[in-house]
Amino acid sequence: MGTNSKNPVFVFFVSFIFLLCSSAQFCYGVDTIRQGQTVADGDTLVSEDEAFELGFFSPENSTFRFVGIWYKVDVKAVVWVANRDSPISNRNGVLRIGVDGNLVVLNGNRTGLVWSSNVSGLSNNTAAILQNTGNLVLSNNESIGDTSRAHWQSFEEPTDTFLPGMRVPVSSAIGEFRVFRSWKSASDPSPGNYTMGVDPKGGPQIIIWDRLARRWRSGQWNSVIFTGIPNMSNIASFLYGFKLSQPDENRTQYFTYDPSGPSDLLRFRLGWDGREQQLRWDDDQKTWTVLQTQPDAGNLCDLYNHCGDHAVCDNSKAPKCTCLDGFRPRVPDQWSRGHWSGGCERRVQLQCQRTNGTNTTTAQNGEQDGFKGIRRVKLPDSSRLSLSAMNVDACASRCLGNCSCSAYAFVSGIGCMIWEGDLVDLQHLDQAGNLQFFYRIHNFELDGGRKISNTVIIIISVLGACLLVVSIWLLWRYKKKVKGLPVVSSMPCCRDDDVAVSNESKTKDFSADLSGPTDVLIDGSQVNGPELMIVNFSCSIEGEEKMLIYEYLPNKSLDYFLFDESKRALLDWRTRIFGGNQNEANTVRVVGTYGYMSPEYAMEGLFSVKSDVYSFGDSAMHRPTMAAVVLMLESEAPALPMPKQPTYTSMRSLVDADYSMDIHETASASSKDVTVTMVDGR
Ligand SMILES: *[C@@H]1O[C@H](CO)[C@@H](O)[C@H](O)[C@H]1NC(C)=O
Ligand SMILES: *[C@@H]1O[C@H](CO)[C@@H](O)[C@H](O)[C@H]1NC(C)=O
Ligand SMILES: *[C@@H]1O[C@H](CO)[C@@H](O)[C@H](O)[C@H]1NC(C)=O
Ligand SMILES: *[C@@H]1O[C@H](CO)[C@@H](O)[C@H](O)[C@H]1NC(C)=O
Ligand SMILES: *[C@@H]1O[C@H](CO)[C@@H](O)[C@H](O)[C@H]1NC(C)=O
Ligand SMILES: *[C@@H]1O[C@H](CO)[C@@H](O)[C@H](O)[C@H]1NC(C)=O
Ligand SMILES: *[C@@H]1O[C@H](CO)[C@@H](O)[C@H](O)[C@H]1NC(C)=O
Ligand SMILES: *[C@@H]1O[C@H](CO)[C@@H](O)[C@H](O)[C@H]1NC(C)=O
Ligand SMILES: *[C@@H]1O[C@H](CO)[C@@H](O)[C@H](O)[C@H]1NC(C)=O
Ligand SMILES: *[C@@H]1O[C@H](CO)[C@@H](O)[C@H](O)[C@H]1NC(C)=O
Ligand SMILES: *[C@@H]1O[C@H](CO)[C@@H](O)[C@H](O)[C@H]1NC(C)=O
Repeated sequence: MGTNSKNPVFVFFVSFIFLLCSSAQFCYGVDTIRQGQTVADGDTLVSEDEAFELGFFSPENSTFRFVGIWYKVDVKAVVWVANRDSPISNRNGVLRIGVDGNLVVLNGNRTGLVWSSNVSGLSNNTAAILQNTGNLVLSNNESIGDTSRAHWQSFEEPTDTFLPGMRVPVSSAIGEFRVFRSWKSASDPSPGNYTMGVDPKGGPQIIIWDRLARRWRSGQWNSVIFTGIPNMSNIASFLYGFKLSQPDENRTQYFTYDPSGPSDLLRFRLGWDGREQQLRWDDDQKTWTVLQTQPDAGNLCDLYNHCGDHAVCDNSKAPKCTCLDGFRPRVPDQWSRGHWSGGCERRVQLQCQRTNGTNTTTAQNGEQDGFKGIRRVKLPDSSRLSLSAMNVDACASRCLGNCSCSAYAFVSGIGCMIWEGDLVDLQHLDQAGNLQFFYRIHNFELDGGRKISNTVIIIISVLGACLLVVSIWLLWRYKKKVKGLPVVSSMPCCRDDDVAVSNESKTKDFSADLSGPTDVLIDGSQVNGPELMIVNFSCSIEGEEKMLIYEYLPNKSLDYFLFDESKRALLDWRTRIFGGNQNEANTVRVVGTYGYMSPEYAMEGLFSVKSDVYSFGDSAMHRPTMAAVVLMLESEAPALPMPKQPTYTSMRSLVDADYSMDIHETASASSKDVTVTMVDGR
């Protein structure tokens, strides 16, 4: 009672279906094949949810027949092929469970074996099922569909397609594992030149090979994304997308893929042209949408080591290839003609190589090698993990202490990475802001760099000082010429039209900066970063005269630090750059003294144009903007809103409940005439 199986109607229904199915060879929607049954050319197995279908097909422009599994949608997408290297030339082929218990494909004369799952020692009581994942599973009849007890699965012998639910093993015992192999051409599923798989060494990577050579790599997995595809999370958030499982008892991990929508029809296919594409079925447009392509056809830098060793490839630059600092083209005349494959070599041999690495530690400071950092790059290939180095300093000293170490990086999610030998396949990645590594370089190169920049700084300082003296002298001369002393005031006295001076002198960017509040004042006592400067604008107003004096700032202007992500790190106070027309934001950390901050900023980090005028009301909604306040102060008969009842709460409601009422109140409030008597000194 109560269970469906005991319901007589249900039993009748099931028996009816069963009778119907056993009378025909295959009725619509059958997903299993048992001993004695065959799938002839024209018949198909269909997975229970009807997403996948198995049967015979011919590729476009081909008459050969292959057994395959495809997505059962309007644009059929083949995801697996059984007899990819033995095509059947007629339509008499069959798929069945052979006498030895294996799945077999036989050609037209029913004696020729074309393909077999080829598992030895099977019982003659096996059955296969096409699962909803697209996996064809062969197991004993009793445990049908149980993948953990399967004898054979199509997911373990994939062709060119990775499907959600598939597991790609990552194991240092297995090593490089080529899982997928491309078709030979669009109309020929036989094995092509390209393979795709994983390289577990030094942070697992996805690799595409062209025969034996690497063609593309994903960059090392950092437990959220592949570091060489920084915008990977745009396609699926890290809750979904790729995941690497915990090591099992044999220390094997598995890459898997979770689609963000469970009903998404997704596939990753290594195309016959050597490009891997992620595709998703768009049911409205009835097309397969390409989500990403690797290597990107429009980006030569995606091709493995396009610029050769020790060179960085940047697709947005011309020329694309540049040697790392301290390196020069190995074959300069080829390099200048755009033949990059030779790569770059050191300008100066490493100190540790000169001394054969025997006494690097005893070498005097300055004779040792140093490290140069480079950011926003795909980390070089062929790294090795140093598991004992738990922080960046330990990682650096591990590298410095061994002459065969040419670079290191400490990357969160990976750990201490060490490179030996040449630095291979470097690509500039705009979106990989925090990805960096440090490469070994002779101190001479580092010092050389420093000397040059010091010289430049000294020259600029001297020139600046001269300029200042000359301008002061000119100003002094000028003042003497004009009768009486002009008023020299600080910037706030200058009106808008004063700004026009700088417009006329064609420093447009600068004048634009002056249009808002002009001073950038930083309390030097709170700043421990690079010594910053206080910008001091002065101007002189006498009749038609307008003058702007630039003061030399020895450590460069603040924008030099603010707008460069790497330099911003030098400031030990937090910076946040707002867009030109942005007037509110939610900051991550609240900084300030309670009582001197607006409540919504103090409690929730909400920052807006109303933060400064918080004494005009508890709620930002009720508060006027600074512009409105200025208008109120300046206007003769201001339309003043009714003041709100102050509220003292420990929590703010997200949306002020009485805000809608407030609008009506404001509308009906009367404007009061106020007489202000100005007391004027004589
Ligand atoms: C039958 O199959 C065998 C083995 O593949 C093959 O040698 C033979 O030519 C086939 N005969 C016909 C008539 O197709
Ligand atoms: C089947 O497997 C055996 C060994 O496991 C191998 O020698 C044979 O070539 C395989 N046959 C096919 C058709 O793959
Ligand atoms: C399976 O094998 C057993 C013995 O190994 C035999 O008795 C039985 O008839 C076979 N069944 C079929 C369907 O071949
Ligand atoms: C396989 O199992 C099903 C149900 O579990 C049963 O009906 C069928 O007879 C079995 N087939 C063979 C060949 O043992
Ligand atoms: C099939 O042949 C047509 C005509 O030659 C061609 O345009 C089309 O690209 C071919 N399709 C494939 C998949 O090769
Ligand atoms: C595969 O390699 C062979 C031999 O180098 C070459 O002739 C053929 O064009 C390549 N095929 C593709 C699709 O690149
Ligand atoms: C990722 O970046 C590459 C190159 O910068 C671009 O071609 C691609 O469209 C981007 N993909 C996504 C999903 O944003
Ligand atoms: C670990 O390896 C052993 C021996 O190869 C195998 O029997 C076992 O199934 C493996 N365990 C897992 C979880 O794959
Ligand atoms: C460095 O070692 C190599 C071989 O290990 C040797 O041939 C060479 O002479 C050594 N050079 C110095 C300066 O010791
Ligand atoms: C250390 O290197 C210097 C050259 O830099 C060499 O003159 C000296 O002999 C070396 N010392 C030892 C102990 O190898
Ligand atoms: C330096 O690294 C190489 C390669 O890993 C290693 O074989 C060698 O023992 C290391 N040398 C020292 C002194 O640690």
